[in-house]
Amino acid sequence: MHVIIVGAGPSGLVLSLLLAKVPGVNVTLLDSASKVDDRPRAAHYAPSAIRVLASAGVLPDIRDRGLIPDNMTWRNIRGEAITSIKNVSQHPHNPEALTVLPLGMLGALLLEHVDRHDNVTVRWDANVVDVVNGEGKCWAVVKGKDGVEERVEGDYLVGCDGANSQVRRTLFGNEFPGKTWDAQIVATNVYYPFEKFGYDDVNFIIDPVDYYMAAKITTDGLWRVSYGEDTTLTPEQVIAHQPAKYERMLPGNPKPGSYKLLSVGPYRIHQRCAPSFRVGRILLAADAAHLCNPFGGLGLTGGLVDVGGLGQCLEGIARGVADETILDKYDSVRREMWETVINPVSSDNFLRVSATDPSKALTDDPFLMMVEEAGKDEEKRRVFDEGVYAICHDFTQYWRKGEVNGEVGQEEARL
Ligand SMILES: Cc1cc2nc3c(=O)[nH]c(=O)nc-3n(C[C@H](O)[C@H](O)[C@H](O)COP(=O)(O)OP(=O)(O)OC[C@H]3O[C@@H](n4cnc5c(N)ncnc54)[C@H](O)[C@@H]3O)c2cc1C
Ligand SMILES: *[C@@H]1O[C@H](CO)[C@@H](O)[C@H](O)[C@H]1NC(C)=O
Ligand SMILES: *[C@@H]1O[C@H](CO)[C@@H](O)[C@H](O)[C@H]1NC(C)=O
Ligand SMILES: *[C@@H]1O[C@H](CO)[C@@H](O)[C@H](O)[C@H]1NC(C)=O
Ligand SMILES: *[C@@H]1O[C@H](CO)[C@@H](O)[C@H](O)[C@H]1NC(C)=O
Repeated sequence: MHVIIVGAGPSGLVLSLLLAKVPGVNVTLLDSASKVDDRPRAAHYAPSAIRVLASAGVLPDIRDRGLIPDNMTWRNIRGEAITSIKNVSQHPHNPEALTVLPLGMLGALLLEHVDRHDNVTVRWDANVVDVVNGEGKCWAVVKGKDGVEERVEGDYLVGCDGANSQVRRTLFGNEFPGKTWDAQIVATNVYYPFEKFGYDDVNFIIDPVDYYMAAKITTDGLWRVSYGEDTTLTPEQVIAHQPAKYERMLPGNPKPGSYKLLSVGPYRIHQRCAPSFRVGRILLAADAAHLCNPFGGLGLTGGLVDVGGLGQCLEGIARGVADETILDKYDSVRREMWETVINPVSSDNFLRVSATDPSKALTDDPFLMMVEEAGKDEEKRRVFDEGVYAICHDFTQYWRKGEVNGEVGQEEARL
């Protein structure tokens, strides 16, 4: 079986690794860029995504280079704690610890692993301009740097080509139902000693104007600060406004010179989901399939859970224990998870920080009330920790039993 994956972002790279282990499967990974994207984007991977990264065989290296955060705290703009999840990652009920590694570092690590597999071919400067479904086959139309077009033939094609997915546009044009928030988020990376001010490893600051998230993202003390800005500001104005924003909202009211700013990146935020994740032999996953705002880190986490499930579906077909209807399951289950969990939970996460009164958080916000309760009661903490797996779904349950050819790893069977 030959699988074409469009997009060597985190989702495409992880799917390549999952499929590279399946007997008889070859992967061609096509990316329009000339190298892996090293911009500092997502950084937090929840336990449901950690499970997929473990099954792709990359978790030990991620743990090695990454950070396991300790406490997660919600605060008001004065920095006062409202409530916390202590030991957010390492609770005994929560073996697959939330792990932090900036996306640029994750991409490089994933590519190192992909490069070790003979049956994954990575092609850079391969811009996919069209995709075509056929009887028993499908094609990617690839435009090289020289402008020459070529057809690459496969049995299945997966669009992992991000928010502006050409694969999705070919299937559905501009139809990408949902909404764009009336806010832009500015993701900054900065060295600043938040610990000195009593901040925890992950902090959500609730404020109608100066809401932000501050989280430690590397073991050497780099922090991600993501805050909201008015959509009327141009990128230049956002950058010019950053020192004033920092001085107003960060603990210690720092002026430029008292922190080391590495990057500032504004981006628009959306809640959107494609009409279907399957059309014939062509599939969509991760940002190409759905978008959500970054508060709570469900964006890439949801994407990694997608490719974990899709890997199981394609593996089932390759091993002869599932027919193509399993791909309809992939479509219906993953879209339902987005509708019922990812979209409402991530929307609530954003509204919690940007549009609620922090002084009423512990009486009006059911989620923060649950966090508070879980801090006092082991059983409630257990239920809370189990909740983080709500978006998981094991597609091997649709494999025909007793017919699996070859070894199936324990990790894979558990997804
Ligand atoms: C500035 C910024 C900050 C962000 N910060 C956060 C954050 O703090 N938290 C969070 O959860 N999320 C954040 N995100 C979103 C998060 O990074 C994405 O959810 C994640 O990267 C999606 O992974 P992906 O593999 O689906 O797509 P991408 O990472 O977008 O990768 C898509 C790949 O496809 C390639 N490609 C695109 N079109 C084509 C084509 N036509 N042909 C061939 N290849 C193509 C691209 O070159 C790219 O390598 C941020 C995004 C941005 C832009
Ligand atoms: C891919 O590689 C694995 C070993 O790494 C091998 O078992 C498998 O058969 C290979 N697939 C193909 C199509 O060569
Ligand atoms: C997989 O790739 C290898 C190496 O490129 C090639 O020899 C083999 O024929 C391919 N197998 C399939 C099933 O495409
Ligand atoms: C997390 O909270 C516990 C209990 O309040 C505290 O002892 C610990 O030092 C905190 N960890 C960090 C890294 O601040
Ligand atoms: C955090 O979890 C680890 C692993 O379960 C445990 O050993 C440690 O005692 C916990 N720490 C706190 C402060 O609860």
